[in-house]
Amino acid sequence: MKAIAFVTQKGGSGKSTLCINLAIAAMEAGSSVCILEMDRQATITDWAEHRDGEGPEVAQIDATQLDDVVDRLRDYDYDYVFIDTPGVDSPGTLSAIRAADLCVIPCRPTPADLRAFKPTLAAIYRLEKRFAFVLNQTPPRSYRNRDAADGLAVLGVLPDVNIVMRNDHQDAIGMGQGVTEFNPQGQAAREVRKLWGWIEKRTNFNNQNKGQALTNVKVA
Ligand SMILES: Nc1ncnc2c1ncn2[C@@H]1O[C@H](COP(=O)(O)OP(=O)(O)O)[C@@H](O)[C@H]1O
Ligand SMILES: [Mg+2]
Repeated sequence: MKAIAFVTQKGGSGKSTLCINLAIAAMEAGSSVCILEMDRQATITDWAEHRDGEGPEVAQIDATQLDDVVDRLRDYDYDYVFIDTPGVDSPGTLSAIRAADLCVIPCRPTPADLRAFKPTLAAIYRLEKRFAFVLNQTPPRSYRNRDAADGLAVLGVLPDVNIVMRNDHQDAIGMGQGVTEFNPQGQAAREVRKLWGWIEKRTNFNNQNKGQALTNVKVA
């Protein structure tokens, strides 16, 4: 099992949206995924409540529970646990980074977002974790994307796909779906699938086991 944490203290940059869409894309690609939500805003729990489709299992936990829950999940046969974190640097974010095999840092191509991930990145460096930026909510084409991508590529790894600002992301979440379910042929779906392919390779992990661990792991 690999843990992927979605981290950056900037609210609204797309942690929860990417977490949901990548979880669905990963499941469609044959992996089993569960989601631990550490944000009291409960974006993902709300999404799951609107969901008719199968999986992923979602549990809300706090920072004090994370290590223990991730440890117990390792006894089950999930391929991935995705960890969504709040929009502030908190003990929760730190423990999510510590538990992660890969940290995904969503970032809009704006000066505020490009500044905001720095404390998160410092923690990731300190804990010597692998990480990747994802440029999210980008305009379809803009010098801003190129400038932001150049800047991020200097600091670390950047996938070969940006997640463009598209209505599908908002509409899909409203319906309890991922963009790849909501509009499978759409551009948003194509971008998310490509991003998942990149992340899957980077976590170098692709077994086909399925799991239902959270129903067995009691989360207080
Ligand atoms: N690529 C995108 N295109 C359009 N809207 C997006 C995209 N990514 C995120 N959003 C929207 O931006 C808002 C904030 O995203 P969210 O994932 O909740 O951020 P965070 O979890 O980092 O606070 C939400 O309303 C979401 O629907
Ligand atoms: Mg969120």
